[in-house]
Amino acid sequence: MHAVSIHLGVGMEKKEQTIKLKVRNIQKLYDDKIILKDISFDVMEGEFLAILGLSGCGKTTLLRILIGLEKQDKGSIYKDEKEISLLPPDQRGMGIVFQNYALFPNMTVLSNVEYALKRRKETKKTARDTALRVLEQLGMSEHLDKKPRQLSGGQQQRVAIARTLAMNPDIILLDEPISALDVTNREIMKRELKEIQKKFHTTMIFITHEQEEAFYLADRIMVMSEGTIEQLDTPDQIFRHPANSYVKEFVVAHLEQKYQSLLKCTGRLDNEPKRVE
Ligand SMILES: Nc1ncnc2c1ncn2[C@@H]1O[C@H](COP(=O)(O)OP(=O)(O)O)[C@@H](O)[C@H]1O
Ligand SMILES: [Mg+2]
Repeated sequence: MHAVSIHLGVGMEKKEQTIKLKVRNIQKLYDDKIILKDISFDVMEGEFLAILGLSGCGKTTLLRILIGLEKQDKGSIYKDEKEISLLPPDQRGMGIVFQNYALFPNMTVLSNVEYALKRRKETKKTARDTALRVLEQLGMSEHLDKKPRQLSGGQQQRVAIARTLAMNPDIILLDEPISALDVTNREIMKRELKEIQKKFHTTMIFITHEQEEAFYLADRIMVMSEGTIEQLDTPDQIFRHPANSYVKEFVVAHLEQKYQSLLKCTGRLDNEPKRVE
């Protein structure tokens, strides 16, 4: 198998990494309008890749093409060196967590997680054991019999993630999974997502329009605008060496402004000349 050397994340050692997913020259048009222009990138085994871009730049379209819910007009996708571009979604070994969770409202938490396992023709017992184990790992054991409407947004999101993890996919795709949560829950889920990835070691591709989220979570970030990749690198490299003026403005300037306003509101930045101790 193909192994390349790549620097993954701040403070991590340079190590040999296997390419899990290879995306080559993906193009997509809707009504003669080019939505994705010649998109090529690799995702490494066990990597947490964030796709960062403004609303409308083509992130969801790209994710739907990766999992096979949408068909590309050009280009190919390879998983573990095998072409999967023409396979139906359930044969691609990927799981997706949607922005709106897409839980079955009339089913309990447990049934929501068991459902897909049973459809995959696992025995009732195996399906139940797997569902219980994953729900426990996500701290949802006391909510097994509840319906989605009886749960908070964060808990619903956990069920949606549990449902995907239970299927044990090679790659998990997450489409702005925490954008719909309130600020407090978003912070909690952000930390949990990172824990989940550490615990399950699954390759994850995570879509977001929030720079901070991408910087907090990702090993590498793919910055997109208008259907093209502006830069794909570690958060550290993107911040220190933005590839072009778009990345400089959209990522670096944005984060610096945020940082300055944080300093200001915590009183650590004032216009008084600093006294030298
Ligand atoms: N099924 C569709 N038919 C026509 N246009 C679409 C369809 N889905 C998405 N688009 C258009 O493609 C562009 C990218 O959309 P999307 O991939 O949802 O962006 P993002 O997820 O980055 O916000 C948008 O201009 C959107 O209006
Ligand atoms: Mg989207």
